[in-house]
Amino acid sequence: SMQRRIRKAIFPVAGLGTRFLPATKAIPKEMLTIVDRPVIQMAVDEAREAGIEHFVFVTGRNKNAIEDHFDKQTELESVLRKRGKSDELELLESDLPSAGQTSFTRQQEPLGLGHAVWCARNMIGDEPFALLLPDMVMQSEPGCLKQMMDVYAETGGGNVIAVETVPWAEVSRYGVVEFSKTDGLALAINGMIEKPVRDKAPSNHIISGRYILQPEIFAKIESAKPGAGGEIQLTDAMIALMEEQPFWGCKFEGVTFDCGDKLGFLMANVAHGLLRDDIGPAFRLGLEKLLQRSLTVDPLPVGNVNERAGLPVTRKQPAAA
Ligand code: G1P
Repeated sequence: SMQRRIRKAIFPVAGLGTRFLPATKAIPKEMLTIVDRPVIQMAVDEAREAGIEHFVFVTGRNKNAIEDHFDKQTELESVLRKRGKSDELELLESDLPSAGQTSFTRQQEPLGLGHAVWCARNMIGDEPFALLLPDMVMQSEPGCLKQMMDVYAETGGGNVIAVETVPWAEVSRYGVVEFSKTDGLALAINGMIEKPVRDKAPSNHIISGRYILQPEIFAKIESAKPGAGGEIQLTDAMIALMEEQPFWGCKFEGVTFDCGDKLGFLMANVAHGLLRDDIGPAFRLGLEKLLQRSLTVDPLPVGNVNERAGLPVTRKQPAAA
C-alpha cells in the first residue's frame, strides 16, 4: 500500500488537571515542568525529533499559557540581549516552532479523548497523523514517536500504537491491547479494550499514549457511542477501524512516566534530572544523601516512609464499628 508521510501531530491539552490542585488552579497542568522544560514541551520535542512539521493543540479555557509558550517573547528576548545572555537566547530560539507551524483549537466540553481528537479533524484533513498524550512523558533514545515511525515504515503503513507492559494490578487504568504475533518491535494487534477490570484484560500490554493514525479514524469517532466513563473513547473508534485497517503495536524501548499522576510526575523529574549534564551529578549525590537519611532517621509514621520509597504500605486498621 502507498505509505503517506506523517507531517502533523495532535496534542490534546484540554484536561483540567484536578489531580494537581492547587498547582493547576491558574496554570495548565501541561506547563508543570520536568526539571525546567514544561511537560508539553517534552512532547513537542519528541514530535519534532520524529520529523513532525505541524503541531495541533486541542486546548480549552484557561490554557492560554500554552499558546504563549510557543510564541516569541520579544520583551524577554530584548532584556536577555541587553544583558548578553546568549545561551538563554539560543535556547528560546531553538525551541520556538517556526511561524505557521502551530494551530490551536478548543475542545468546548470535556467529552473524552476521542472527542478531543475529533476537534482537530479540519486541521489534519485527509492525511495520517501522530497523536501524543503529553501526560505520558517518555525517556528513550531515540524518542518514542521516532521508534514508531520506524515501525510505520517497516510495516508499510496502517496504524501504529506504542505499547508497553505494566504490572497486572495497573491494567484497569489504561487501554489494553490483544495481539497475535510479535515481529521484531511490531505486534499485530487484533483486539483492544479501554480500562478493563483486571480479569477482562487480554494482556498486560497497555496503550501508552502515542499513536500514528489514518484519517479514517475521524468517521469512526463520529459514529462512536459513549463508552467507558460515559466519554467518547478513542479506543472504541480504533476498535471500529480495526475491522478495515491493520493496527501495529510498537514495543516502545524506554521508560514511560504517567505524569497525570503525582508519583509518576515526581519520578519523571528524578529520572530526567539524573540524566542532565548540568545538574545530574550533584542531584544524584543529593538524592543519595536524602535516601540515606530517610533510612536512618524516621521522622514520619512507618507507612509514609514506605510509601515514599515505593515499598508496601502498612496502614492502621480502622477501629471496628
Ligand atoms: C487514555 C487512553 C488509554 C491510554 C491512556 C494512556 O486514557 O484512553 O487507552 O492507555 O490514555 O495514558 P486517559 O489517561 O485519558 O484516561
